[in-house]
Amino acid sequence: MSEPRKILVTSALPYANGSIHLGHMLEYIQTDMWVRFQKHRGNQCTYVCADDAHGSAIMLRAEKEGITPEQLIANVQAEHSADFAEFLVDFDNFHSTHAEENRELSSQIYLKLRDAGHIATRSITQYFDPEKKMFLADRFIKGTCPKCGTEDQYGDNCEKCGATYAPTDLKDPKSAISGATPVLKDSQHFFFKLPDFQHMLQEWTRSGTLQDAVANKIAEWLDVGLQQWDISRDAPYFGFEIPDEPGKYFYVWLDAPIGYMASFKNLCARRPELDFDAYWAKDSTAELYHFIGKDIVNFHALFWPAMLEGAGYRKPTGINVHGYLTVNGQKMSKSRGTFIKARTYLDHLSPEYLRYYYAAKLGRGVDDLDLNLEDFVQKVNSDLVGKVVNIASRCAGFIHKGNAGVLVAGNAAPELTDAFLAAAPSICDAYEARDFARAMREIMGLADRANAWIADKAPWSLNKQEGKQDEVQAICALGVNLFRQLVIFLKPVLPLLAADAEAFLNVAPLTWNDHATLLSNHQLNEFKPLMTRIDPVKVQAMTDASKEDLAASQTDTGDAVPQGNGELVKDPLSAEIEFDTFAAVDLRVALILKAEAVEGADKLLRLTLDIGDEQRNVFSGIKSAYPDPAKLEGRLTMMIANLKPRKMRFGISEGMVMAAGPGGEEIYLLSPDSGAKPGQRIK
Ligand code: MSP
Ligand code: ZN
Repeated sequence: MSEPRKILVTSALPYANGSIHLGHMLEYIQTDMWVRFQKHRGNQCTYVCADDAHGSAIMLRAEKEGITPEQLIANVQAEHSADFAEFLVDFDNFHSTHAEENRELSSQIYLKLRDAGHIATRSITQYFDPEKKMFLADRFIKGTCPKCGTEDQYGDNCEKCGATYAPTDLKDPKSAISGATPVLKDSQHFFFKLPDFQHMLQEWTRSGTLQDAVANKIAEWLDVGLQQWDISRDAPYFGFEIPDEPGKYFYVWLDAPIGYMASFKNLCARRPELDFDAYWAKDSTAELYHFIGKDIVNFHALFWPAMLEGAGYRKPTGINVHGYLTVNGQKMSKSRGTFIKARTYLDHLSPEYLRYYYAAKLGRGVDDLDLNLEDFVQKVNSDLVGKVVNIASRCAGFIHKGNAGVLVAGNAAPELTDAFLAAAPSICDAYEARDFARAMREIMGLADRANAWIADKAPWSLNKQEGKQDEVQAICALGVNLFRQLVIFLKPVLPLLAADAEAFLNVAPLTWNDHATLLSNHQLNEFKPLMTRIDPVKVQAMTDASKEDLAASQTDTGDAVPQGNGELVKDPLSAEIEFDTFAAVDLRVALILKAEAVEGADKLLRLTLDIGDEQRNVFSGIKSAYPDPAKLEGRLTMMIANLKPRKMRFGISEGMVMAAGPGGEEIYLLSPDSGAKPGQRIK
């Protein structure tokens, strides 16, 4: 046998200012299933997480509730821990970023970066709330849109006309916190010099650490060139003070990923077999995986590996990115009752239903996953109750009545047990590759075969015939054994079902390798129903409760104080937009007058476009698909003409052309039908 692997796994640290909902659960359930699979296989796998406790949103929410931030994060940590435990998410440690280990590690990493010359300082000018005496992030400033004059718009974009702007462009700006008119004020900020790591990141992100779609997205950012990252915030702020810089705090996203290390360090103190350095030192041979959603890729695949490299630590083995959850085909919505909190779900339904449904739909890609509530009921009832549990309930009675609960020896269908054995490596590979959907498909395929065989043998008919008792026992003994195999394969997804099955089978906790053996001459325990069908009425009750729940506490999910940290690029693909926003986009037919490669940029073409009344210069990352750019000249395409001009290393890009496809050679520039004229608007 080969040495067990040493694997450290994390899920993103949930913000400590809101409740866990079913979107979050997609991540924690996915990670938990993978970790349980690794443990099941006998690997030394450790799963750590923590609450992400810092930042101004948490500070302001605590203030609003009239408690200290420490009280708020303690309350939320208790709530989060209970939700995770009930969903059977089995962390080895669930810590907090507001912890001593994290303060020490964050300071130490910062000092290593500083002493190696990777920290820069410069003064920046920002709006400041003279009443609250604090600098205001863009999302805490409101005012009148400079373009269309709509009032009450946030500091970086207008919901009405879609314009984007700097907060200083807003007319009549007001602090969203106090209502005071903000003033401009300078302050010294600290920056992490990300460009120092451009080369390392270019290689690391292409070395199998990322899914292709993610690597392509990152490549776009790398091509545009990396910017220094602002890692400081001024007091008042809830976080850690920067060493030697009184009044300056680490930006929450600096110490958040270090929270992974801190949670592990905290665990090492009570688990002698775990050694911090064996997992984090530069020469570590342990594997390290971060499971995250697609909205926080830049922090994990750019900033984090650069910080680790700069501070002399090892980098992650893989960043496993998943898509967003939609419910009934749409973004989770409060009014439709599909913004479902973990707690509300648990009040009505068993956690394993959702674990199985997510498993059945989770591939290894970054596509969004839809929880269709009708399909959910149908799939769980037909697969788990109708196929898997059914095998045991069909066979157990005959064994208890006819043979005092003892499984007879022998194998009534070697071709079936061979098929189960032969399927194991492929199921194992699917789990390892996080292709849970394939694993579930293959397992249900086996369950179908087992059921078909039992139906064909019809022990219930044989049982009524004289002299067929031995045959009935042989069939049912194999049926129970096949059920046991299925449970072994499903155990990472359904740990409760597995525990109940182990009690019925009267066996020690099952591990993966047990699938190679059969029980014979073995006493069973009493059979109790292992799982009941989902009653659709309960699903309805859950969505009704979600509507009430959110009506009762509109502020609970942070509606008043926007969540998130402003700087991160939320993926626009999953967000719904208003028609007005769409209508604000100036889409036009453009004639490509000139197309040429850009010196010093691997991916970019410089396009000169005729859009009727003017010419535009646009940089586009499509070179990999058009190695001979001159061929594009004279061709029509479509462009977004009112995109805010963007300053790039090579010049200003005045708009964007539209293309489809995954990237690389597969990028397809869109074109109108012939007859369209440059400058015509697309409606
Ligand atoms: N605190 C940061 C992460 C810091 S990690 C060093 C954060 N927190 S979060 O609470 O907003 O999100 C936690 C995780 O849940 C993220 O990976 C995020 O992508 C994921 N999800 C949040 N909403 C989600 C859906 N609706 N669907 C799927 N995953 C979602 O980001
Ligand atoms: Zn506007």
